[in-house]
Amino acid sequence: MENLSINLKNTNKFISFEEIAAFAKLSARHIDTLNSGTGQGSDFLGWLKLPDEILPQLDKIEKTADHLRKISDTTVVIGIGGSYLGARAVIEALTHSFSSLLKTKHHDVIFAGQNICEDYLSDLIEILDNRNYSIVAISKSGTTTEPAIAFRILKDHLEKKVGKLAAAERIIAVTDEKKGALRSLAETNGYETFVIPDNIGGRYSVLTPVGLLPIALCGIDIRTFVQGAKSMELLTRNNKDAMTNPALLYAATRNLLLQSGKTIEIMVDFTPKLHFMAEWWKQLYGESEGKDGKGIYPASVDLTTDLHSMGQYIQDGQRILFETILSVKTPGKKLTIPLEKDDSDQLNYLAGKRLSEVNHNAEIGTTLAHVDGDVPIITLNIPALNEFYIGQIVYFFEMACAISGYILDVNPFDQPGVEAYKSNMFALLNKPGSEEASKKIKDRLK
Ligand code: PA5
Repeated sequence: MENLSINLKNTNKFISFEEIAAFAKLSARHIDTLNSGTGQGSDFLGWLKLPDEILPQLDKIEKTADHLRKISDTTVVIGIGGSYLGARAVIEALTHSFSSLLKTKHHDVIFAGQNICEDYLSDLIEILDNRNYSIVAISKSGTTTEPAIAFRILKDHLEKKVGKLAAAERIIAVTDEKKGALRSLAETNGYETFVIPDNIGGRYSVLTPVGLLPIALCGIDIRTFVQGAKSMELLTRNNKDAMTNPALLYAATRNLLLQSGKTIEIMVDFTPKLHFMAEWWKQLYGESEGKDGKGIYPASVDLTTDLHSMGQYIQDGQRILFETILSVKTPGKKLTIPLEKDDSDQLNYLAGKRLSEVNHNAEIGTTLAHVDGDVPIITLNIPALNEFYIGQIVYFFEMACAISGYILDVNPFDQPGVEAYKSNMFALLNKPGSEEASKKIKDRLK
């Protein structure tokens, strides 16, 4: 079986392979730090062994997903940040690009609680008026404002629609074992619950019920997904040899590029199916590394779409960028370009070719052009988009992120900076207890 692999041919012009190998060798000590739990944030290392430790819960996750699929046609999954993006990334990668328009019987999963937009939730309620739906509410703290508001509104809608008792049977809470408002609500109303362990932070929780329940709801095989993650754990968790540990190699290379002045990393996909994988990656790396005035700024583009927008900047703007390309080898489907008798669009030179061949050549052409434009490129080769390889990708990025955070000497498992906007917002909204802050902020706005 092939594995996800990393190709550094297109970073050569900027940093030599010898430099990378030497830096990776130095960085390998962080693998020991992770495994011995002696580094920063070591209370949050539960994700390291999840591919084994989650196995006893898979039955319950699958049964709950089957039950919701039987009793409803739609599930609204409520959550934000790490309680949202991982599930969405995996679902978008592995399901039909137009799932909601499919005529065949399927279960719709819709996301809410990832914004506070009045129009978004009102539009959703209009749809839910005519749907037979369930709710999965996900929040580790159980108190995050965005999902808490969405849950209050949708719970009220569902209770009015089907009655309080029937609603309770259609609501699942994924939250802390003891603390938080969502835990109390679940206990008071008798919702089924799944626990997010204390030692796993939101953005590292894809392999817990946070990710697995929504993923299973879409009919995705979570066992193969977990197997893929396990295979990546075997390749990376105890492997200090950069030549065979892609996570160590990736972490070392991106940090060397940072040291050479490349402060922005752009995650590049050539399929819209990976758009949300890049969104999850941005959250994982942004929240894990961006602190203490340090970190690589994580950005993303969908190609070839964004070659007609951001392409100009990448080719020709400030030379502070490097790219990581998610390169998928084998497409899931087959489509060829037809021959046209009069060739009025002059595309007959492509007739008979598969779209994937054109896309692949666009990828090679873009890579060469960007390297010529002084943009180093790391390529991640993904054999195919299936459960196994998506599981590998998830564990790979988590492991590389932890190593990379330790290389930067930051705590990759906290996010203290996220509090700043919250305290201002609470003060502006006169949250009880924030009277003093409220006065100060209102004076500041005068
Ligand atoms: O990665 C993280 O820890 C955060 O992005 C959280 O997942 C996010 O803030 C949501 O938190 P909670 O699950 O407590 O609602």
